[in-house]
Amino acid sequence: MSIPASIEFLAKAGRAAPSADNSQPWRMSWDPQNARLLLSSTSRSSFPAGHPACLISVGSVAENIIQAAASSGLDLNMRQVAKLGNVHYEFRIPQADRAPTVLSDHPLFLRHTNRLRFASNPVEESILAGLNADRQGGARLVRIHRREEIVAVADCVREASEIRFQTRENHEWFHASLRFDPVAVARGDGLDVATLGLPPGGAAMLRALSNWRRMAFANRFGAYVVFARVEAAPIARAPAILAIVAPSTREATLDAGRLMQRVWIEINSTGLAVQPFYVVSELLHRLETGRLLSGSEARAQNVRNVLSTTLALRGETVHMFLRIGWPICEPHRSRRIPLEEIVSLDSSYQKGMNG
Ligand SMILES: Cc1cc2nc3c(=O)[nH]c(=O)nc-3n(C[C@H](O)[C@H](O)[C@H](O)COP(=O)(O)O)c2cc1C
Repeated sequence: MSIPASIEFLAKAGRAAPSADNSQPWRMSWDPQNARLLLSSTSRSSFPAGHPACLISVGSVAENIIQAAASSGLDLNMRQVAKLGNVHYEFRIPQADRAPTVLSDHPLFLRHTNRLRFASNPVEESILAGLNADRQGGARLVRIHRREEIVAVADCVREASEIRFQTRENHEWFHASLRFDPVAVARGDGLDVATLGLPPGGAAMLRALSNWRRMAFANRFGAYVVFARVEAAPIARAPAILAIVAPSTREATLDAGRLMQRVWIEINSTGLAVQPFYVVSELLHRLETGRLLSGSEARAQNVRNVLSTTLALRGETVHMFLRIGWPICEPHRSRRIPLEEIVSLDSSYQKGMNG
């Protein structure tokens, strides 16, 4: 049985969502009997399925599906399913058999990551103040445009990045996601090195350091300090930063993903560029779950304290920083894996058909 055009359209919209290292950690299943589309997180590489990075992505997929349904006139009822195994959202689509109005130029398909240099022009406060996306469930948006606050965030990114470059698991997740040659890129997942905006020789250096032992050796000579400075520099120069903050529960993390996506679509629609930074969120998650690089607890606590004051956090964590600014160049766009690898017929429905 083939999947209806409406479900295909919603799945394509969902698939356009961002994900850590372009890992696309989501799965959808279509249950025609109950007119339901189920969305859950999965692990394709790097981050495990229940990791907040995956939940943020799944929240973004949900937001895309909601926006696509609204734009194409499809009725849709969404429910967050917190306790049923790994299912995070259930969408009821009573008129799934109706041919949708397919809008491939909807702003959600134009949203993208830009890791290149931005112009130094300021981002008008009126644009930030005018953003409609402000809250979603337990998640809220924090606007950061005062220079001293931007510098404080950049210092946190540098600290977190230094620790990340010395953490073997993070190193292995990142390097497993890198795609250097056209065949690997054509599979559609992972980080095509062409999207990273690397300087000449950058890809060769990444390849050389993919082996953890080599990286650990380079770290003895301070490689992690240099790489962390390089990572934090664009944030320090950013005309403005946005933070998505929320409690660290599963529901609030999914909400953070929905809010991030809504903000990102809106920002890109104004012509502004966006680059997300997850390194601090990962550090805070490791601090909370006791999985920090040994010896880095005091530094991680300090990052948490600085952010707590700078962003006036209220029992929340930072789920994402977004560097924003006016683009100078068009970035290379990332790809997506084929639809048939992410959408399937619901297994209980299939069993019914076969039995
Ligand atoms: C949870 C999450 C974490 C991410 N972390 C970073 C990051 O630290 N640095 C970065 O440049 N991009 C980051 N990204 C952006 C992804 O790499 C990007 O969304 C993915 O490669 C797909 O590209 P696209 O956004 O252009 O569609 C992150 C995205 C998500 C959803």
